[in-house]
Amino acid sequence: MKILGIESSCDETAAAVVEAENGSLKILSNVVASQIEMHRLWGGVVPELAGRAHIEKISEVCHSALDDAQCTLKDIDAIAVTSSPGLIGALLVGVNFAKCLAYSHNIPLVPVEHVHAHLCAAALLERAPKPPFAALAVSGGHTAIYMGESFTEFTELASTRDDAAGEAFDKVARVIGLPYPGGAAMDKLAYEGDKTAMKFPSPAIAGDTLDFSFSGLKTAALNALNSARQKGEEINKADLAASFTSAICSGIAKRAEETLKKTRAKSLVLAGGVAANSHLRAAIKAVCDKMGAEMYVPPISLCGDNAAMVAAAGYYRYLNGMRADTSLNAFTD
Ligand code: KG4
Ligand code: ZN
Repeated sequence: MKILGIESSCDETAAAVVEAENGSLKILSNVVASQIEMHRLWGGVVPELAGRAHIEKISEVCHSALDDAQCTLKDIDAIAVTSSPGLIGALLVGVNFAKCLAYSHNIPLVPVEHVHAHLCAAALLERAPKPPFAALAVSGGHTAIYMGESFTEFTELASTRDDAAGEAFDKVARVIGLPYPGGAAMDKLAYEGDKTAMKFPSPAIAGDTLDFSFSGLKTAALNALNSARQKGEEINKADLAASFTSAICSGIAKRAEETLKKTRAKSLVLAGGVAANSHLRAAIKAVCDKMGAEMYVPPISLCGDNAAMVAAAGYYRYLNGMRADTSLNAFTD
């Protein structure tokens, strides 16, 4: 069967066609129209602009995904769309477009949760994980730990109590003059600095919890920068990037190890935009090796927002009988 995935929860308008054959998934097309250049002018995503840009792009992006997959809507067996969480004006564009396509062509419509879709990107790997698996979703909007009982059942074990990891990367990147979103630039710059130069608090907060907190870490980085400036000194940006990245990665790696111990899972999925971070990938791989667990991480192209992951999540939900009708709505969380 072929699934058309549609994603518009934040700043990427995306559509993809995924084919499921004998239980394995293959990406036939994966189109992403990024709005990053537009939002960069403002230093972050402007919700109203995002919604408008989705409206302008959605039809073209869906056409391109079908064309690239060399098929038409007649070949599509299900339409999967992100209906939560995200920016409401952005989500509504994808949801309404998907509803129109599904209704007018009599195609089953399957609503998908965006963070679960990030985790389902692992199902697109040539060697996909077999549930149950532990999972870390680390993105611009979310940082959470799950137990994946299947590709449709995710039990949340912990989450961030304030900022998400990507948000923290982006905020610190912005104050040191890196263009939005700064996560990827911080990744690179961290190689040029000394990770022991500055001491930052761990996002793995103390206590009997697997939760995270990134706001103290972010504030500590901003304070270090400001107090250096007040003294008329310029902070070494590479050292800051390296020390900040190291604090984030070791905090998440600590949680990965605790999660593997607690759940006794033998597989760990790392997904979401921040899973593209090379330091984080290495830190989680080291934990998995130490714990005798297998790490599953999507290629960089499937870490950030895309619709192939939505189609993958939609496939499993379709198999579970999950359907939506034209009353489907979007939800911010
Ligand atoms: O998953 P995603 O595309 O959107 C959300 O669902 O939030 O994640 C975007 C986030 C941004 O904060 C971006 O800076 C971050 O992922 N990101 C990275 C890297 N590449 C993207 N953060 C750290 N290192 C990277 N290489
Ligand atoms: Zn995302």
